[in-house]
Amino acid sequence: MTKGLFITFEGADGCGKTTQMKLIDEYLRGKGFRTLMTREPGAKGLGERVREILLNYDGEVSPACESFLFLADRAQNMDCIIKPAVEKGVIVLCDRHTDSTIAYQGYGRGVNIDELKNLNNIATGGRKPDLTIVFDIDVQTSQARVGEEKDRMESAGVEFFERVRKGYLEIAKREPERVKVVDSMRTIEEIHNEVVELIENAIRRT
Ligand SMILES: Nc1ncnc2c1ncn2[C@@H]1O[C@H](COP(=O)(O)OP(=O)(O)OP(=O)(O)O)[C@@H](O)[C@H]1O
Ligand SMILES: [Mg+2]
Repeated sequence: MTKGLFITFEGADGCGKTTQMKLIDEYLRGKGFRTLMTREPGAKGLGERVREILLNYDGEVSPACESFLFLADRAQNMDCIIKPAVEKGVIVLCDRHTDSTIAYQGYGRGVNIDELKNLNNIATGGRKPDLTIVFDIDVQTSQARVGEEKDRMESAGVEFFERVRKGYLEIAKREPERVKVVDSMRTIEEIHNEVVELIENAIRRT
């Protein structure tokens, strides 16, 4: 593969993104592909400092400020980590990206979605993921998976997460070519098999 791929993992807290990303990373490496795992917030380097603020700051945070912090980390991740790797033929796996902003700050917190889309475009230079996998799960199950120890974002409440879930499903409806929804109420292995299929299809198209 001379041209790389940019794949994002999306869905509510506790849906299994990180679990599935690690499994597919191992699978792809086993097949001889070069891969790189990154995440938002918290891209390696500067992004880790931004993540610290976003997840642990305990004072008031305005919705716009929260959006800009996520976007700052995203710009850094795209320019310094994702783009250079994809250009070298690497399969980049990114834990959360632009759709998290639309789902959480847009649908969840009520920030204007068209404005967020414009800001996302500025942060990414308009580069969209080649494939986005949304891990869909009901709110009760995901909250149970997250457990008692919640960070600032995870503490937002059931209605907030209902809006986030609806947001992701809306995004998938609008961009069915890019965004694939995976039923994440199943076992880790069943979900992994579907992820393998989706990513192998994407590799074939490249
Ligand atoms: N299909 C599954 N069935 C049952 N438990 C699961 C499944 N997938 C993941 N888990 C468990 O649920 C918890 C959350 O999974 P994981 O950390 O992968 O979610 P996440 O989407 O990355 O969450 P976050 O958004 O908080 O980072 C973990 O303890 C994980 O082992
Ligand atoms: Mg995770």
